[in-house]
Amino acid sequence: MSVTVRVPAKVNVQLGVGAARPDGFHDLANAFLAVGLYDEVTVTPADELRVTCSGPDADKVPLDRTNLAARAALALAERRGIEPSVHIHIAKDIPVAGGMAGGSADCAGALVACDALWGTDASRAELLDICAELGSDVPFSLVGGAALGTGRGEKLTPLEVGGTFHWVFAMAGRGLSTPAVFREFDRLTEGHDIPAPEADPSLLAALSKGDAEALAAALTNDLQPAALSLYPELAATLETGRGAGALGVLVSGSGPTTAFLCPDADTAAKVAQTLRDSDTCRTTRTAAGPVPGATVL
Ligand code: C5P
Repeated sequence: MSVTVRVPAKVNVQLGVGAARPDGFHDLANAFLAVGLYDEVTVTPADELRVTCSGPDADKVPLDRTNLAARAALALAERRGIEPSVHIHIAKDIPVAGGMAGGSADCAGALVACDALWGTDASRAELLDICAELGSDVPFSLVGGAALGTGRGEKLTPLEVGGTFHWVFAMAGRGLSTPAVFREFDRLTEGHDIPAPEADPSLLAALSKGDAEALAAALTNDLQPAALSLYPELAATLETGRGAGALGVLVSGSGPTTAFLCPDADTAAKVAQTLRDSDTCRTTRTAAGPVPGATVL
């Protein structure tokens, strides 16, 4: 018997970042949108905890207990006083270290899958608690759709979305470490007065109307200067996508995946083709959102 859970990637349509807190984290105003690019996490009873991974980026995924999916199984087992005897297989399609919450997706997926496999019957609130302990983006991977994340990103308020948004994602040649990007943000903003981050009302209105043009005009990512500073070549990727007809362009989360909001699926296909024909990215994917969060198949 096994359980498979499908979990989407995310793009941040607003990533407002405040000053570093005493605990080292940053307060965020983080508008998440789940998009239809998925990892699938399958759990099967086994003699001991084991993680395997398949997919084009599989060699970049750690298979030890630092893997967020393994940590999710360990956290749930510990709460119930049971052995985490499970084989976790991750069929990976979300880029690794790409700023699209791939690790968080696997974490939420493993948690939901183990809960179903073990019949632990955790409430939604307990699952969200465990998610928040394991990472700032993990609660959103569980709920999906669109939500505003505050605190370090883990406190979620659902956002209304009045339509489907079409995106192209350009995958970069290498990854970026999220802590390194936040450290670069700290370095670039040193000595500046950083206001507390707040959700942009025009962005929330654009989401609720399903208005792609208005959303494109409101896209912001306070981590983008830091990501570009560590990965200057991304500027050319953004320019290429903009020139090809994207309404709005930005770095996804801490990067280095770049995101291109398009008026419709046809334009997205053309923008993706232009990006692939340029030498400014490794590959592209098109995906629409919002989509639901972690779902048992
Ligand atoms: O929460 P998570 O483990 O995903 O965060 C990874 C790293 O990103 C943290 O260790 C921290 O360096 C940085 N981070 C941050 N502020 C946040 C979220 C993450 O500084 N709100």
